[in-house]
Amino acid sequence: MNVLITGGAGYVGSHCNNFLNQKGISTIVVDDLSFGHREAVKQGTFIEGDFGNKKLLTSIFKSEHIDAVIHFAALADVADSVQNPSKYYCNNVSKMINLLDAMVEHSIRHIVFSSSAAIFGEPKFVPIDELHRQLPINPYGETKCIGEKLLRDYGKAYGIKYSALRYFNAAGADIDCKIGESHNPEHHLIPLIFQTALGKRKKMFVYGNDYNTPDGTCIRDFVHVLDLAEAHYLALNYILKNDTSESFNLGNNVGFSVLEIIKTFERIANIKVAFEITDQRPGDPARLIASNKKTKQLLNWDPKLTIEDILNSAWEWEKSRTY
Ligand SMILES: NC(=O)c1ccc[n+]([C@@H]2O[C@H](COP(=O)([O-])OP(=O)(O)OC[C@H]3O[C@@H](n4cnc5c(N)ncnc54)[C@H](O)[C@@H]3O)[C@@H](O)[C@H]2O)c1
Repeated sequence: MNVLITGGAGYVGSHCNNFLNQKGISTIVVDDLSFGHREAVKQGTFIEGDFGNKKLLTSIFKSEHIDAVIHFAALADVADSVQNPSKYYCNNVSKMINLLDAMVEHSIRHIVFSSSAAIFGEPKFVPIDELHRQLPINPYGETKCIGEKLLRDYGKAYGIKYSALRYFNAAGADIDCKIGESHNPEHHLIPLIFQTALGKRKKMFVYGNDYNTPDGTCIRDFVHVLDLAEAHYLALNYILKNDTSESFNLGNNVGFSVLEIIKTFERIANIKVAFEITDQRPGDPARLIASNKKTKQLLNWDPKLTIEDILNSAWEWEKSRTY
């Protein structure tokens, strides 16, 4: 099987690219390296380019027999999306239309899409299941929500079959393959803890300790990037085998508070992390936890790696990273 991976030089995409190759799937990665890293693409064919470039897509679809697409490429910084929504609608929505149109033109009908917990906005209940209403509260979340609507409508009109995977917090690294998380600027909790521990930052900020949670800080659901990679493999096989569309929330069904994560890391690494409590950030829900009932039932996906596995692997990566 041949799979086109957009954004495969990025964090989640590079881990998934490796995983698929280990399962005997051939991959072609298209990434413009705006945020990705060439060194992260350890397997498959790499093409540097814009996934929204229809000429490029046409040449790939004509010259390679592509069975399915996994679409990771996107801009993904919530705060930046509030300041610069135009960039986000262009990259995450307009270019996705080009991708889907090219797929329709070349009769490629199966796609797995990187969606996000951000489509749900402020949750009405946790754990959040797939039927929870979608009400994003920032442009980034809107673009993911629109992405899912595009898939729904292209499904009805042109027979596209898809799986939208709503990740909660991706974390961890694949130490054996020497890949891990490397965002610049970094806006994810665990790498920010590490940068502080390594003295690259004087201190980190914890946004609010007056939420309605046991220790007052926000609670998030962290899922190891290797478990996520497996979920992509299973979701892809599911939609291909059943020729159907199905969306899934991907998390561990368990939440950890920001302070719990900091304390767990301090215990594992035996290092103190300097942090300052500041005001809440607008748009940060108190709890985001995924229900994984549906993924267990339909995909038989049960994330195996614990929060300790996540922190240990990510810490090893942080200390030895090459990009
Ligand atoms: N990391 C998370 O916790 C998380 C959570 C929810 C959803 N997501 C989604 O998962 C996907 C991957 O996230 P990530 O953390 O790996 O991000 P990332 O920035 O590491 O990876 C995205 C990749 O897409 C590439 N890219 C962006 N625009 C492109 C374009 N026009 N053409 C070609 N390549 C382009 C970037 O260079 C980068 O390599 C994104 O769609 C993101 O919205 C991530």
